[in-house]
Amino acid sequence: MLIDEETLARRVASLAAELHARCPPDAPLLLLGLLDGSFVFLADLARALARRGLDPRVELARTSLYGGAREASRDVAVLHDSREPLTGVAVVLVDDILDTGRTLATMVERTRARDPLWLASCVLLDKPARRQVKIAADFTGFEVPDAWVLGYGLDHAGAGRGLPYVAVLDS
Ligand code: IMP
Ligand code: MG
Repeated sequence: MLIDEETLARRVASLAAELHARCPPDAPLLLLGLLDGSFVFLADLARALARRGLDPRVELARTSLYGGAREASRDVAVLHDSREPLTGVAVVLVDDILDTGRTLATMVERTRARDPLWLASCVLLDKPARRQVKIAADFTGFEVPDAWVLGYGLDHAGAGRGLPYVAVLDS
């Protein structure tokens, strides 16, 4: 095990406090979760924000990496995105893990072009050793080593998403 349930819960609560402190106070708040991996983190983050008296809207986007056998030549396709206008809205992009950075970089650029009042990114995990695009998340739960991790929404070939903790895949 890499990160146990209690440590995850404490960090999600403190991330919610950090977000609460930094997001514009009077604007509607939208959590835009990136499927599939973010669904557990997104659900816990939404409830942690609600415990602080916030009432975030929640929408989902879906991306997929495609093309090129070589990882470095792959592109991000956006298969589904928020449909509501973002004018005047404080938007938080929520993802499970920042790996090469391609997914988040694409979604930040796309979302910024829709002119939200405020835009931030929040990832549960960050694997900085793997980065291919220069990007950092505004809010990060934990840095993890360069290994495949699963649980708490993250999968390995579809398995492990329901594990309540984060583990490193045994090779
Ligand atoms: P990117 O490489 O930063 O674009 O990340 C793309 C996506 O790959 C992430 O949102 C995750 O869904 C997935 N991913 C990257 N590393 C891992 C891992 O260690 N375990 C499970 N999913 C991962
Ligand atoms: Mg993902």
